[in-house]
Amino acid sequence: MARVGLLTGGGDCPGLNAVIRAVVRRGLARGEHSFVGFRYGWSGLLEDEALELTLESTAGILPRGGTILGTSRTDPFAEGRDGGRDGLGEIRRTLEGRGVDALIPIGGEDTLGVALRLHHGGIPVVGVPKTIDNDLAGTDYTFGFQTAVQIVTDAIDRLHTTAESHNRVIVIEVMGRHAGWIATHAGIAGGADAILVPERPFDVDEVCARLRHRHERGRSFSIVVVAEGAVPREGTIQTHDKDAVDAFGHPRLGGIGVTLEREIEARTGYETRVTILGHVQRGGTPVAYDRVLATRFGVAAMDAVAASRFGTMVALRGTEIVEVDLEQALREPKLLDPALYETAELFFG
Ligand code: F6P
Repeated sequence: MARVGLLTGGGDCPGLNAVIRAVVRRGLARGEHSFVGFRYGWSGLLEDEALELTLESTAGILPRGGTILGTSRTDPFAEGRDGGRDGLGEIRRTLEGRGVDALIPIGGEDTLGVALRLHHGGIPVVGVPKTIDNDLAGTDYTFGFQTAVQIVTDAIDRLHTTAESHNRVIVIEVMGRHAGWIATHAGIAGGADAILVPERPFDVDEVCARLRHRHERGRSFSIVVVAEGAVPREGTIQTHDKDAVDAFGHPRLGGIGVTLEREIEARTGYETRVTILGHVQRGGTPVAYDRVLATRFGVAAMDAVAASRFGTMVALRGTEIVEVDLEQALREPKLLDPALYETAELFFG
């Protein structure tokens, strides 16, 4: 019998509620476990803001987007946080005060990075990987990713018809801070004519040459998908405001699409428009694949807690759910499979 704490940290993601529901259901089925959900990521542990999670309070949340716990990008170990407060000590006190035996943080590299520090500090944790970007190592896929890919693919389909009607180039900016998984999957599914990703710095002149070649072959419109973290090869195009950063020091991205719209139109003379999909990609109900993956992760995380296998992260390897070492999973981001990008390239221009 254990009392388990849960929290969702970082950007929200379709499928978070499905994980919460699965942990609670699995725990209740296994025995007399009880559950407390901390509000707004690590902030809930620092401020001791929590709610009881029960069969009733988690009923009906499976298809719901967002997170019933709320989320934030609070970093309990941020330098100079509120005059150097002791993050580890405060979290430990909250957990003791609420009688929590183990913690299941659901999050990406930042949230799980904090979880790892807690594990090193002696707090029992089992991580659940979450990011629509799909760039966490240790797991083949994260939930939320397929939903984002579907949203982007639907958007590309819609933008295709308007691009064609107006003889325009349409640039679609999508999420993907370190990796171009969303851009490449949705670009292949939507038949993009160029896909620009963080892993491959691009040359805007090469992109324009490709578009010109396509237009010379009689196509009067083009679709360019760009991940927000894509960078120009020559390093001359300003892609984001370098001073705007979040609590973990990441630049606030968004804007490369606008730059490309301007540059492509100026260099080719083709009328160009940009659509920035932004947080639309993270909103709304998860697709079935993500509900299933999130449910499997939740069940596996509860099982790992019940077996006291701490310092781990549940993950998908092939078709199996496994437990991996949390520290190893966080060593570096999982970048795009070059073979996948080469497949996409076959259909460019
Ligand atoms: O990390 C996931 C992500 O969706 C990134 O793709 C994106 O850059 C970032 O979150 C946006 O974060 P915020 O919601 O803080 O603007």
